[in-house]
Amino acid sequence: MTETALVTGASAGIGRELARQFARRGHDVVLVARREERLRELAREFEDTYGVVAHVVVQDLASREGREALFEETESRGIAVTYLVNNVGMGTQGSFLDIDTERELTQLELNVVTPTHLTKLYGPGLRARNGGVLNVASSAAFQPGPYMAVYFASKRVILFALASPENAK
Ligand SMILES: NC(=O)c1ccc[n+]([C@@H]2O[C@H](COP(=O)([O-])OP(=O)(O)OC[C@H]3O[C@@H](n4cnc5c(N)ncnc54)[C@H](OP(=O)(O)O)[C@@H]3O)[C@@H](O)[C@H]2O)c1
Repeated sequence: MTETALVTGASAGIGRELARQFARRGHDVVLVARREERLRELAREFEDTYGVVAHVVVQDLASREGREALFEETESRGIAVTYLVNNVGMGTQGSFLDIDTERELTQLELNVVTPTHLTKLYGPGLRARNGGVLNVASSAAFQPGPYMAVYFASKRVILFALASPENAK
């Protein structure tokens, strides 16, 4: 049976390439981000090149409602997700007190709360299908980051809080 990988932040950068790697290996994919045209173009490319099914879900993941809407959408379309790729993230830079508070809070939401919440939502299905979670952290997780303090700390959370083997059972 074909396995399906859901990739957050699939419209650009590392997420787009990770989605391509799953498609290249014959997995169906669910491409999630906010920019619809980019996702549709990528979905066409994957379907034409690799013969897989590429689902598009346009969703802002920086809110609880957005993440629940994504889960409800994949459930209602009957998509059985096997792999959850927690890739979406952002990085603020600058002197801590000078960084816009809303951007800082959105960063924490996207980098920490979103992967945690999506793993809660999709986890039972992944376990039932003997699937898995791929968290995109960073070398930033291993050191303090001057002028990117919150970003570096957020990557530490997703590296360790969600990745220990006991949590995978
Ligand atoms: N780039 C690096 O050097 C590097 C190094 C180590 C780790 N990382 C990590 O790798 C991951 C991806 O980084 P990247 O550099 O590839 O990022 P990127 O090029 O900025 O792409 C970010 C992706 O996330 C989506 N996105 C952003 N905000 C969103 C939101 N609110 N809701 C839904 N989707 C959203 C963007 O698409 P839309 O704008 O269409 O929504 C885009 O697809 C991040 O977790 C980052 O921390 C990056």
